[in-house]
Amino acid sequence: MQILVTGGAGFIGSHLVDRLLDEGHRVTVLDDLSTGTVDNIAHHLGSDRFRLVVGSILDRATLEPLVQQADQIYHLAALVGVKRVVDDPLTGILTNVQGTENVLALAYKYWVPVLIASSSEVYGKSVDLPFREDGEIVLGPTTVPRWSYAHSKALDEHLALAYARKGLPVVIVRYFNAYGPRTDPRGYGSVVARFIAQALRGDPITVYDDGQQTRCFTYVADTVWGTILAAQTPKAQGQVFNIGRDQETSILELARLVRRMTGSTSEIVHIPYRDAYGPNFEESRRRVPDTRRAREVLGFQAGTSLEDGLKATIAWFQERG
Ligand SMILES: NC(=O)c1ccc[n+]([C@@H]2O[C@H](COP(=O)([O-])OP(=O)(O)OC[C@H]3O[C@@H](n4cnc5c(N)ncnc54)[C@H](O)[C@@H]3O)[C@@H](O)[C@H]2O)c1
Repeated sequence: MQILVTGGAGFIGSHLVDRLLDEGHRVTVLDDLSTGTVDNIAHHLGSDRFRLVVGSILDRATLEPLVQQADQIYHLAALVGVKRVVDDPLTGILTNVQGTENVLALAYKYWVPVLIASSSEVYGKSVDLPFREDGEIVLGPTTVPRWSYAHSKALDEHLALAYARKGLPVVIVRYFNAYGPRTDPRGYGSVVARFIAQALRGDPITVYDDGQQTRCFTYVADTVWGTILAAQTPKAQGQVFNIGRDQETSILELARLVRRMTGSTSEIVHIPYRDAYGPNFEESRRRVPDTRRAREVLGFQAGTSLEDGLKATIAWFQERG
């Protein structure tokens, strides 16, 4: 198949590209390299089954021929990371909403199946755990910029499902805290990356608030496998899937684990959210996926333990120096 991966030079996208090329597909990546890097996909640049197009999903003239040539689209390009969204909500909203609408409208025009990457962020402050795909979404006020990311992803989902109602083969995946090699070491996308970088430098490991908030960390190879299964399973079309591991870990536990596994002597310090994100910041305390639908419809289960995933991620950080 000829596959278009938007955001394919990014963290998850580049691992997806690796796997699709391994399966024998031809892959085109469209990425504006705003947060992705050529390093992530450099090992494919000589391959005649791989092409990198540096450009934006906001530019329909660039996007259109790529969609027209594709048999399948994985749409991962987005402005990602709470910190980035808080710093520049406008770019986030425009990229995530207009960009996705461009992809969907062209996919509809040329009838190309699309997978849309959404986020566990859309569950917001819901306390109805574990989060079911058709469960409630509880988002904070529009005056708090961090919620614009969740709103933009939720609107993407509405758009995608509206196209699905018009017959377009569409599937949506909601990722839960992916981590692994190639994660942004500055930690915009992942607290795991931030903690490992701090621990390896011997800097204080900065835990926001009391550290009792929890997340379900999912190794990127599992995230990618769930993504491919969702795109390749015909009965998945028109549905939303949680793609994540359902083992809950508190941020403080994660900090201790990273410190132990890196052999670091870093101190663990607690800092208020407002020091990192400014005043008026809101956070969800717990986030756990209900994994039943992914298991039953896709046959997907995230199998990599946190310890094994961290080991591979720490090794990657150490190799980069
Ligand atoms: N990492 C996670 O835990 C996580 C969790 C939930 C959802 N997601 C979603 O998964 C997808 C991939 O995220 P990631 O973690 O790999 O982040 P990432 O920042 O590494 O990847 C996003 C990619 O999109 C590219 N991009 C941004 N704007 C673009 C534009 N206008 N045109 C073309 N390319 C553009 C970036 O350069 C980057 O390569 C995103 O849609 C994100 O919302 C990720």
